Amino acid sequence: MSKFSRIIATGSFLPPHQVSNAQLVSDLAEQGIESSDEWIVERTGISSRHFVQGDVSSSDLAFQACVRALEAAHLGPQDIDLIIVATSTPDMVFPSTACILQHKLSQLNEQAQGILGAPAFDVQAVCSGFIYALTTADALIRAGNAKRALVVGAEVFSRILDFKDRTTCVLFGDGAGAVVLEASSEPGILSTDLHADGRHVGLLCVPGHVKGGNVLGDPVIKMDGQSVFKLAVGLLEGAAKAVIEKAHLTDADIDWLVPHQANIRIIQATAKKLKLPMERVILTVQDHGNTSAASIPLALDQGVRSGKIKPAQTVLLEGVGGGFTWGAVLFKL
Ligand SMILES: CC(C)(COP(=O)(O)OP(=O)(O)OC[C@H]1O[C@@H](n2cnc3c(N)ncnc32)[C@H](O)[C@@H]1OP(=O)(O)O)[C@@H](O)C(=O)NCCC(=O)NCCS
Repeated sequence: MSKFSRIIATGSFLPPHQVSNAQLVSDLAEQGIESSDEWIVERTGISSRHFVQGDVSSSDLAFQACVRALEAAHLGPQDIDLIIVATSTPDMVFPSTACILQHKLSQLNEQAQGILGAPAFDVQAVCSGFIYALTTADALIRAGNAKRALVVGAEVFSRILDFKDRTTCVLFGDGAGAVVLEASSEPGILSTDLHADGRHVGLLCVPGHVKGGNVLGDPVIKMDGQSVFKLAVGLLEGAAKAVIEKAHLTDADIDWLVPHQANIRIIQATAKKLKLPMERVILTVQDHGNTSAASIPLALDQGVRSGKIKPAQTVLLEGVGGGFTWGAVLFKL
């Protein structure tokens, strides 16, 4: 059994089709819905997002992110013995997107078939999904059940947007991010903190379901934006403080905050509560919008590949989402 798990590589992928606020506002105007670049930037910090085209699915985006993470780790699919995918936009009702991803990775080359047989499953915790997935993989590795995991966040949120609802459709985007998490005698992941409060199910949900061959209910995002905003800041502060305390560190020990990228104002408010200047926060919300479970690993990969986040630095990940679910992970790169 290993004492710790450690992130040894990151990867991410954005579908090539980028949609600026100007483009989205003009598409909405064609349907008689009024919005503006100024409103979206001022209230959310978002300037553009990426949307898939055609039938591209979460497992397709996850596959590309995993290939990049594996390349960065100088490993192949055959070196992986656990796959966890966080998604709220799975390819199918079942099987899991993780199983579909495993099949795609196994076809990469001849040796890649070695990934078949590794356990693979999805985690559903909406925008906190990656935090839940990473915490689960860390626990499985430390318990001796796996040595090297692919932990992925992948979403095609454009599929569940209501383009007649300007209060939600301007906020979200598609993408995927992945990390390779490995058993290690050195930290690694220092502490984790997960929570859920099911009383808030109705504040942020996609209330549709499949029955008798039909989709019943409304299979698009419904959100009480102001209530979500108010709850999110307090919950994120609590989770961030909890992981710092569990690791016997202080706010001053955090080199980088990589928050869930929902809204610049939520990120600024959380950073302020942690006394972290915005220069130490990785921001991608302006270019990606909210990619739900993919947003944290996407931002982490950008932070690492841009050279901002350096080896041995201490990084705080935190997320909040529908459920409500929320949590944080503190690690040393
Ligand atoms: C959604 C959100 C950006 C709305 O911002 P807000 O400052 O709360 O705005 P309000 O909801 O008070 O709306 C203000 C006005 O803007 C209008 N508006 C909403 N969306 C608009 C848009 N895309 N373009 C132009 N106007 C818009 C509203 O209809 C309202 O108009 P009214 O005053 O005439 O009724 C904000 O509540 C938010 O970010 N919430 C958190 C959402 C989130 O992060 N969810 C994911 C969590 S994981």
